[in-house]
Amino acid sequence: MSARFPDLEGKVVLITGGGSGIGAHLVRGFAEQGAAVAFFDIADEPSRALEQELKQAGHQVAYQHCDLTDIPAVQAAIVQVRETFGPIGVLINNAAHDERHDFQDVTPEYWDQRFAVNLKHQFFCAQAVHDDMKQLGGGSIINMGSTSWIIGMGTMPCYTTAKSAVEGLTRSLARALGPDNIRVNTVLPGWIITKRQEELWLDAAGEKKILDNQCLQRQLKPDDLLGPILFLASDAAAACTNQRFIVDGGWV
Ligand SMILES: NC(=O)c1ccc[n+]([C@@H]2O[C@H](COP(=O)([O-])OP(=O)(O)OC[C@H]3O[C@@H](n4cnc5c(N)ncnc54)[C@H](O)[C@@H]3O)[C@@H](O)[C@H]2O)c1
Repeated sequence: MSARFPDLEGKVVLITGGGSGIGAHLVRGFAEQGAAVAFFDIADEPSRALEQELKQAGHQVAYQHCDLTDIPAVQAAIVQVRETFGPIGVLINNAAHDERHDFQDVTPEYWDQRFAVNLKHQFFCAQAVHDDMKQLGGGSIINMGSTSWIIGMGTMPCYTTAKSAVEGLTRSLARALGPDNIRVNTVLPGWIITKRQEELWLDAAGEKKILDNQCLQRQLKPDDLLGPILFLASDAAAACTNQRFIVDGGWV
């Protein structure tokens, strides 16, 4: 059980990519705070299972199938969230896709696809919830970045470039939306060991790399992000905006 942030009770929270990985952990964590949680994903099976489990436990959750690369569909899905739960007070722009790719293989179409899944929807989700947050007298937008571009990972240049742009997005929107008391921050995870990371990339060399590079001598899990993100969503962080928060176990 994480810390409690009483002001999150009853808040309407939208989490993109909430069907699996870190997003699913956030859906659960916000639901346990008493928030009304809407989440978008394209992975229907785990998303529906999560929705059902949380509803059975008495939480307010609503899953919608929504491909975040389809902006008109995203805008329509946000209207639906508003109709279901009311104005959205917290937006977690979490969805992304860290597919590896070789620099030489990137085509203009692939570049556009990677930016569509890793960056573009963050802007349009923020745009679509702006009026809700204004109506509520404020709000919190949390954009998921990544430390991958800072530590110089070279195995997915489109992803890392898009993730670096998340910081520019945060700093632009924080300034634009500050007068409406809307806070915008980036959370930059280090290497967070989800089921997908375990299955695809965590091998013995990766385990050693974690111990060699992190100050903290353990693997980080989605739960390590929950506390910082709940804090940034809540009134406890009422004066925190335009910032980056790194959660990487002290990677050097
Ligand atoms: N896991 C890590 O080590 C790590 C490190 C740095 C940053 N991050 C960031 O944290 C966030 C979550 O990471 P994760 O590891 O849980 O990722 P993940 O790939 O495990 O999960 C992403 C979720 O987004 C969904 N999604 C993907 N494309 C979509 C689309 N077009 N429309 C709707 N949903 C879509 C997926 O189905 C999945 O449920 C991402 O922004 C990621 O870049 C993760």
